Amino acid sequence: MAGIAIIGAQWGDEGKGKITHLLSGLADMVVRFGGGPNAGHTVMHRGKTFKFHQIPSGILYPHVRAVMGNGMVVDPDELWREMEMLRRAGVELRRLTVSGNVHLIFPYHRLLDRSIEDLSGERAIGTTGRGIGPAYTDKAARRGVRVQDLLLPEPELTQRLQHALRFANTLLVHLLKSEPVALDAMLERARLWRERLAPFIGDAFAAVHRALQEGQTVLFEGAQGALLDLDHGTYPFVTSSHPTVGGVLAGAGVGPDALSRVIGVVKAFQTRVGSGPMPTEVRGELAERLRGSGANPWDEFGTTTGRPRRVGWLDGVALRYSVQLNGLTELAVTKLDVLTGLERVAVAVAYELDGVRLETFPAQQAGLDRCRPVYEYLPGWNEDITGARRLEDLPAAARDYLRFIEELAGVPVTIVSVGPATEQTILCAEYQGA
Ligand code: IMP
Repeated sequence: MAGIAIIGAQWGDEGKGKITHLLSGLADMVVRFGGGPNAGHTVMHRGKTFKFHQIPSGILYPHVRAVMGNGMVVDPDELWREMEMLRRAGVELRRLTVSGNVHLIFPYHRLLDRSIEDLSGERAIGTTGRGIGPAYTDKAARRGVRVQDLLLPEPELTQRLQHALRFANTLLVHLLKSEPVALDAMLERARLWRERLAPFIGDAFAAVHRALQEGQTVLFEGAQGALLDLDHGTYPFVTSSHPTVGGVLAGAGVGPDALSRVIGVVKAFQTRVGSGPMPTEVRGELAERLRGSGANPWDEFGTTTGRPRRVGWLDGVALRYSVQLNGLTELAVTKLDVLTGLERVAVAVAYELDGVRLETFPAQQAGLDRCRPVYEYLPGWNEDITGARRLEDLPAAARDYLRFIEELAGVPVTIVSVGPATEQTILCAEYQGA
């Protein structure tokens, strides 16, 4: 069996889209296992830029089957826009399967998301506003409406929606002082979704297992990042799902033996969007330099929300945590080229908390706010590395930086990205091929 998980090792936006796209060329199936339209994967394919939120980007390859697994929450309006984008580009959509167990994001989930954020004031999470938290809340409370419910006889679908709306409207009217959502309007929406989605609804579980049993290569495409995990991330500043390897198992319905490799995607520096602690955050000129101007789609502005991302030096403590949390077998380091031209490059190798040196991520999350990074500095490089295709093409200082990351993480770096295009990638000697 050849299942390969691609996991964001930081706070999301690590460049998973590019790495997934690169490996999709060698895969038979690509599976999204969690999250929803809060994700934004920018992919350059044959000279064109595509922005994916919900559909696995592997669908761009005609030989790849794309699966949206049960762990996802999906906004069908957004999904339709993505489908239209792909149709316009001539992509065949018959290769897409949406699990019937996926939970639906209704417009009231988005409304709740934004209203709850407003009400939270200083305690706001800085969500993407896509209704993710409220949709997963309904799922956990067992009143969520699933994709398969769209296929039910109408009276049953109505009952389910009525039940979900009873709670949503109580919150909206009494707590959030908003207008209630009308059942009829939601039913109408659900009918449209049924018409549009019915051809794609299928048994994702069976499809994934069949592929694995036949020895096909199945990529599990992560969204968000390990430090945003509901259990293991920087709670409460997290998303409402499990972007970690555990999320692959639950969100695609496979056992651990399905995975032969777990690739952690890590940016050569650190970014975060939304609130929450970030010990290595920098501001001022260096921040602007790392973030980019926003002129390019790969600059550090949210793909989903357009918000400028917070930026900082690579956090080695968080990276080690992520390696353990996910059983990462290797790393794909992205955006190494962004560091070109800096006199020196810093990596946090430990934290200092109340005068005590910490080598591990603090168990008491409250402490993370007060952790100060302990940096090691490495020499920078000035050579343009965007044309490098082998490790030997990199200046010695850039190679030393990669070696430093490997030693810090305790796992090999097998892929290095030196630019946004797929071909701007170094597959290292250790790389075994997918
Ligand atoms: P939510 O997932 O929209 O509820 O947002 C919760 C937190 O996760 C916020 O800090 C978001 O900025 C962050 N987040 C959610 N999705 C992504 C992503 O794809 N990349 C980076 N951050 C994300």
